[in-house]
Amino acid sequence: MARINGTNEDPREKKPLTGGVALVTGGSRGIGRAIAHRLALLGASVSICGRDRAALEESARELAKIGVPLHTQVADVTKPANVSDLVAGTESTLGPITILVNNAGIGLFGPAHERTEADWDRVLDTNLKSVFLVSRAVAPSMIRRSSGDIINISSLAGKNTFTGGGVYCASKWGVLGLSGCMAEDLREHGIRVSVICPGSVATDFSGRSPKDASKVLSPEDVAHAVEAIVTQGPRSFLSEIHLRPLRKP
Ligand SMILES: NC(=O)c1ccc[n+]([C@@H]2O[C@H](COP(=O)([O-])OP(=O)(O)OC[C@H]3O[C@@H](n4cnc5c(N)ncnc54)[C@H](OP(=O)(O)O)[C@@H]3O)[C@@H](O)[C@H]2O)c1
Repeated sequence: MARINGTNEDPREKKPLTGGVALVTGGSRGIGRAIAHRLALLGASVSICGRDRAALEESARELAKIGVPLHTQVADVTKPANVSDLVAGTESTLGPITILVNNAGIGLFGPAHERTEADWDRVLDTNLKSVFLVSRAVAPSMIRRSSGDIINISSLAGKNTFTGGGVYCASKWGVLGLSGCMAEDLREHGIRVSVICPGSVATDFSGRSPKDASKVLSPEDVAHAVEAIVTQGPRSFLSEIHLRPLRKP
């Protein structure tokens, strides 16, 4: 099989996701951008969203070099009307969504008792409610077609507790609970719901920079986990992936 790395491909070989349509929320930066890139290399048409138009367009310019059909849309995934427009815009441009990656998220850290109600709403709306909103908008057409992948990006902060993690951990533990229940609801319809829990990833997430980037995950590591999920045989699914750097930071 030809290596799918953008430079060493056999153009005669059909890529595994050719004909598929992937929607990656938060595809303008960091992990989402790497996932969108990987899915495009695998042959999928790709739709990305984010709130910052300039970042979205920059990401789209890179994706365009791969040569798959693209859709970009400025959308805030905490807003139900934006979510409906995003899904409608994607499907009218590219066709029915076959892969949804709920990746958009924000970090906010510090003792929960020192955070405001607005902080709580912002984090929970972005990291948890958005997964509900976008999945709810995409699921009906997947159900009609009896197939699809929904991949939710949680975190190892969704499995663990740590000082100052209260609000963020609450959102990511919520994503795990929602994902597990969605998986049970949708598996009978041929839809696989998976969740990925990465440890620290070298991105600009919340303005934090890793102390030693060689000892944390890269966005491409997370993209590789997404590839593993979407290239599974049709009779099985990877329900939950815990992704850790090999060497401890
Ligand atoms: N980095 C880590 O260490 C780490 C570890 C485990 C899990 N994660 C999770 O991985 C996901 C991606 O994180 P990252 O590190 O790639 O962060 P990032 O570099 O800050 O990127 C976040 C992406 O989400 C988008 N986004 C944020 N709020 C949004 C909203 N309301 N509507 C639409 N898009 C929105 C951002 O675009 P705009 O700002 O333009 O909207 C951006 O594209 C998050 O869910 C995060 O919790 C991260």
